[in-house]
Amino acid sequence: MKAGAIGLFDSGYGGLTVLSEIKTLMPRYDFIYLGDNARAPYGNRSFERVHEFTLQAVEWLFSKGCHLVILACNTASAKALRSIQQIDLPKLDPERRVLGVIRPTAEQIIHHTRSGHVGILGTEGTIQSRSYEMEIGKLHPGLTVSGEACPMWVPLVENREFDKAGADYFVEQHIHRLLERDPQIDAIILGCTHYPLLLDKIRQHLPQGIHAIPQGRQVAESLLDYLYRHPEMESKCTKGGIVRYFTTDAPEKFNQMASLFLNEPITAQKATLERIK
Ligand code: DGL
Repeated sequence: MKAGAIGLFDSGYGGLTVLSEIKTLMPRYDFIYLGDNARAPYGNRSFERVHEFTLQAVEWLFSKGCHLVILACNTASAKALRSIQQIDLPKLDPERRVLGVIRPTAEQIIHHTRSGHVGILGTEGTIQSRSYEMEIGKLHPGLTVSGEACPMWVPLVENREFDKAGADYFVEQHIHRLLERDPQIDAIILGCTHYPLLLDKIRQHLPQGIHAIPQGRQVAESLLDYLYRHPEMESKCTKGGIVRYFTTDAPEKFNQMASLFLNEPITAQKATLERIK
């Protein structure tokens, strides 16, 4: 079987914050990044829609030769990953793998809290799914977890408003609500891959002693560990240090935004997603 790049998928630009950490840790590998910008945000879409769109993206990445796909999106990980792993993948190709971002983040959180009270900021979909509560509950049953949905934060990033004064109102509002719900929280997971772009503002509004934890680094370390533990998959990943970018919306717009996020010139190509039967 021909080896291929590792696929990364997000509803839009957010997954680039994960890709950036993965590239730093694993510069020899090849990657294909796919952003479904034309249909972002996913955060307030139904389970059925998120599953349908995510499955299309996974099938598309498989058709580009990826054997391993990372859903670099919490909403897709929360709402679609389990069905894809348990129902779709055995039919599509049982040799390929799809991994998410929630489990690696939940594993690491224990190292960031002293009080044992953890907050999650995420999209409506991620928070309503209670995926973090379930994963953390299984791994670290002693921790108390509270979630807060921030429906405006992804649109602020997708529309390049994340560093503008208007963003402060929404950032302050949700941090305040989360800490009101549980004043003992001392570690907050940024449970959406878009949120690291808001990190400066988030830190400005956090009381001293409370840490905001982006997940990119943890996902990157977990991927490296996965490949170490699965040499049969590692041998199917090409190593040329090449990253290709695809978007379902206008490539010119993606190039501008992605170059800004990754601090390097990006040239994306257009992808059209449809079910590949
Ligand atoms: N980056 C996605 C996540 O991690 C954003 C979801 C959205 O499109 O609303 O949840």
